[in-house]
Order: sequence, then C-alpha cells, then structure tokens
Amino acid sequence: MNGSTGARDDGRDRGLPRQDATRAPIASTGGGTAGRPSGDPVLEVEDLRVSFGTRRGRAEVVNGVTYDLHPGETVALVGESGSGKSVSSLALLGLLPTPPARVEGSIRLEGQQLVGASDDALRNVRGNDIAMIFQDPMTSLNPVMPIGRQVTEGMRLHLGLSAKEARDRAVDLLTRVGIPSPEKRLEDYPHQFSGGMRQRVMIAIGLACDPTVLIADEPTTALDVTIQAQIVELVQQLQADTGTAVLWITHDLGVVAGLADRVMVMYAGRIVEEAPVDALYDDPRHPYTRGLLASLPVLGETTDEGLESIPGLPPDPVAMPPGCPFWPRCTVRDDPRCEHEAPPLLEVGPGHRAATFYAEAMAELPSPVRDAGVETP
Ligand SMILES: Nc1ncnc2c1ncn2[C@@H]1O[C@H](COP(=O)(O)OP(=O)(O)O)[C@@H](O)[C@H]1O
Ligand code: SF4
Ligand SMILES: [Mg+2]
Repeated sequence: MNGSTGARDDGRDRGLPRQDATRAPIASTGGGTAGRPSGDPVLEVEDLRVSFGTRRGRAEVVNGVTYDLHPGETVALVGESGSGKSVSSLALLGLLPTPPARVEGSIRLEGQQLVGASDDALRNVRGNDIAMIFQDPMTSLNPVMPIGRQVTEGMRLHLGLSAKEARDRAVDLLTRVGIPSPEKRLEDYPHQFSGGMRQRVMIAIGLACDPTVLIADEPTTALDVTIQAQIVELVQQLQADTGTAVLWITHDLGVVAGLADRVMVMYAGRIVEEAPVDALYDDPRHPYTRGLLASLPVLGETTDEGLESIPGLPPDPVAMPPGCPFWPRCTVRDDPRCEHEAPPLLEVGPGHRAATFYAEAMAELPSPVRDAGVETP
C-alpha cells in the first residue's frame, strides 16, 4: 500500500485514490471513458422515489433516481452517509417494509417490473437475479447455521440443484473466493471465520446463483485496506467470468477510480452527477462532487491537514427545500433559480450528467484532483 492515511472510514466523505487497485479487464460493454455503454441494460431504474412515514411527517429519502446498469459493467454509487444509497438499493430487492416505506417509480430487471411485484416474484428475484453483499456479514449471515448450508440454500431453491451438486458448487465457489480447505469449512459457523473470510463467504453466497446484478453495499468499509483491495479484485475476476453487472456502493470517492467504469454521485436522495470515472475526476461539474474531490487526501501525504471538507449538513428529509438540495452548502450558488428551482439532471458531455445550474461555468475551473497533484489509477 502507499502508506497514506485516510483510506479507512473515518466517518467523513474522504478517501484515497489508490494506485494499487488497478482495474481488472472486466467484460465491459464499452463504457469506460467513451460514454454510456451500448447494448440493452439489464436494470432500468426510472424516477425511483422512496419515502417513509415518520412521527415528524413523510421523510423523502429517495427523490427521483434514474439510471441503467449494463451487463458486465461496474457502477459506483457514491455519497455521504444518509444520502439514500442503501434505501434506493434495498428498494430494488423489495426489502423495504411497506409501510412505513412507500416506493414509487419504475424498476425493470430484464424487462420485469419490480415495483408493485408480488412477494413471490420478489423472493425469486432476490439471490437469484439480484444479489446483495452488505457491509457487515455478521448481520446478514445466520450465526447458528453452518456456512455450507448458507451457501447452498439459494442454489437449491433457485437453481434446483441436488444436495450433492450444491455442495460441489459451494466448494468451488469458496475455493474461488479464497477460503482455504473449503470442504473442511462447510460445517463451520460464521463466528469461526475472520472478518475478511466472512466477507468472502458473503461474496460466495452473493454469486452462488450467477446473479444478473450484484449490489455491493460498502462491503469493504470495515476491513483492512489490503483485504479491501483483495475483495475488489476478487469481485472483478468473478465478474469477468459471469458478466454480472455490479452496483458498488461507497461513501468513499477515493476508492471508485480503481473499481468502477461509471460513477453516480448521490446527494439528498438524488443523483446529482453521473459520469465515466475519468470524466468525473477530470471534469467534475457539480459543486458537491468538487467538494468531495477537494477533500480527498493527496497521495503520499501522511496527515489530513489542509483538506477541505464540505461545511454544513444535508437537508432534513422531512423538510426538503424547494430549490436545489445542495443550496445551503453551496459556495457558488449565484444563480437566482438555485434557491427556488430544483436543477434537472442534464447531459453535459458523453455519458456525463449533472444537476446544477452551474454546470457550464464549472467546466472552466481546473480539476481539484488533477491540479492538486492527486493521482488516480
Ligand atoms: N425505516 C426508516 N424510516 C425513516 N427513515 C429512514 C428509514 N430507513 C432509512 N431512513 C432514512 O433514509 C435516509 C437514507 O438512508 P440510507 O439509504 O441508509 O443512507 P446511506 O446508505 O446513503 O448512508 C437516512 O436519512 C435515514 O435516516
Ligand atoms: S444549482 Fe445552484 S445551489 Fe445547486 S449546486 Fe448548482 S450552483 Fe449550487
Ligand atoms: Mg448505507
């Protein structure tokens, strides 16, 4: 590793572009820096809205999110804690209790509408077509069930494998995710594995049914940086074999350069900027993205001193402001519309969208990453 601090989660939106987390040759559909991938998307999310009934009123947590995922690509969903990353993803799996949640809009998985789908249909989608890896495997692994059964359960249910076939596949998957002596470990319980090994078991479960879409919700945040890099690489290798589309959720903009083709920046339940990863670093158009990039530590620096973080807090989801949600924290908000009108997410370049009235003017500014000497992979 490069020895810099700030790569671990310190609770703030800071990160470290890593030179060692090189991008594996994934089966991309041609996204990269050239623009949006071609071909049919496997997942089409359109105007997704999620709100919760609370004692204080309706909390508007996801506010009109639209995006596509294509086979074999990795898209990073980045934003501060509380910006709606997990809720918008749990909605894809039908995992939000309704009520208190209300889910509106459209989520189509290979053409199948998931919003309003029956419990049976959603159960079939979960683990089979869309799998999710969570940050803390201890909360999603069953502590009283041997891991072998946890890995094979979905395959037996969704793929109809026999006990022997499922066991063989479990051993193969556990080998591929780097669990030593997997045959012997099938009978072990989650607490008998280290944190990194548990996360590998979670990945094996996530990939057990060759999902069309894998959602990785901050799966490496709690892990040592070396293990983080190994897990990123592992998912990329497996993805190259299977063509799975990956939605990689993180609060850390510094890690996405090494793992994603495209980045979506989320703020107050909206995508405020979306771009191929290089364009986002070179030519950020939303003041929030610039703020996040300016707060990344420079490679080789050993202290956090001098980093700019974004002052202020995101808006209260129970009292969303009528105008731009970033307005209270924005330092360039001199357009008269900012306070009263929500800026639409508009195309500003190939595959590059930004929701700010300032997108044109931002193009004139130097990149806070390139010009500060922060290197990206
Ligand atoms: N059941 C719930 N009821 C009310 N608010 C909720 C509920 N679940 C999540 N939220 C709110 O939704 C917002 C987004 O949460 P989340 O998606 O977990 O954020 P992120 O994953 O980006 O850190 C937060 O403000 C959180 O408090
Ligand atoms: S629309 Fe206005 S307030 Fe919002 S980010 Fe752009 S400049 Fe700032
Ligand atoms: Mg989350």
